[in-house]
Amino acid sequence: MLTDLIHRIGLSFRAVANLLAILLAGVPVLIHAAAAEPGQDKTLKLIAPAVSTGTGLLLEPALTLPEFTREKFEAAMATVGPEKIHKPWTNPIVTLPPHPRADAKGLTHDEVRAYMTEVKRLFDTGQALPLSDVGLVSTQEDVIRKPMLNHIAGFSNETVRAYLLVQRTSTDKGWSYFAIVQDLTVTPVLDYFAEIKKTGPKFEGTSCYKCHSSGPLAIHPAREDLVLDASLAAAISRHIAEQPRSRFVFPEDSPKPPTGEPLTLKFCARCHSEDGDRDRLYQVQSHPIRVMVDFGYMPPNRRLKPEEIAELKAWLEHKP
Ligand code: HEC
Ligand code: HEC
Repeated sequence: MLTDLIHRIGLSFRAVANLLAILLAGVPVLIHAAAAEPGQDKTLKLIAPAVSTGTGLLLEPALTLPEFTREKFEAAMATVGPEKIHKPWTNPIVTLPPHPRADAKGLTHDEVRAYMTEVKRLFDTGQALPLSDVGLVSTQEDVIRKPMLNHIAGFSNETVRAYLLVQRTSTDKGWSYFAIVQDLTVTPVLDYFAEIKKTGPKFEGTSCYKCHSSGPLAIHPAREDLVLDASLAAAISRHIAEQPRSRFVFPEDSPKPPTGEPLTLKFCARCHSEDGDRDRLYQVQSHPIRVMVDFGYMPPNRRLKPEEIAELKAWLEHKP
């Protein structure tokens, strides 16, 4: 019940812990234990398992990947270097040193790239706390239709929130590196996206925006057993879901794609709009929309009624 309340009023764990600390000043030991071990955090709700609700919104049959067993999953994940993943943790987000320019108002592109290079270095040297999963949104539909293996780690200081994604499909050999850095020194916060290549980070926009309409995406494993540490996944996902509203930075050579029509159906747009919790959604985001709704994640607290599904389907299929 407390969890529901916290979700509804949108308080962060830290805010609640602080509040409790004030209310329960007489029992500081208890609070201390809770704050020191978010791994034991009772307010942490595990991510609901992905099960298709059969809305008819998917363009391809839902995949359950029966041949991709837990053993195969663990072995595939460990090919990145077993010492880099599935580590013990207390705080799910790794704290970065303070930014050298304390009064920065707007990071330079070089500073953003330096953060991206640094989070990759932390991962490569076993100093990150990645969750490891097969991602639902990238595995379903026609994107690749085989397990997409993700290691995702979060980092932060007062200046940035940074995320690293180390990714390959189940049949590829090498891992690719992607990063998102949120510049918190400006309002609205700015989101930089990049692929980290051998030569360093290369800013991207066009392709990322098709799924990342509001910046970093909450975590959704493709199947309940295809995640190495479900508590860590839930903790990182909550950190992502609590992110500030932000604006996507499109580099000149990777501009915003044509968006198609905005999604104005009120059962989505009351949260996804210019001044909502999340940014407006467009037809260009139809892939994550189909998957998130069919697997019952959106809207967050209820199932759509058949007539609402029909309205959404008509909008997805409408040619402007
Ligand atoms: C097909 C949809 C899709 C596209 C296109 C895409 N992403 Fe993602 N990305 C996701 C999903 C879904 C997750 C969460 C995965 C999970 O649950 O394991 C994610 C996670 C990430 C993360 C980890 C932080 C977070 O948001 O959870 C980074 C970093 C990232 N993506 C970078 C990029 C960059 C950079 C691009 C463009 C070059 C890109 N992505 C394009 C779907 C996409
Ligand atoms: C009560 C508010 C609310 C409603 C209503 C809602 N969403 Fe969301 N949506 C969220 C939040 C918060 C997130 C980010 C956290 C998460 O993914 O769990 C999100 C995430 C998403 C994402 C991933 C992109 C992003 O913004 O991170 C998609 C796609 C999405 N929603 C689609 C929909 C669709 C389609 C509907 C209507 C059928 C809908 N949502 C209704 C709150 C809402």
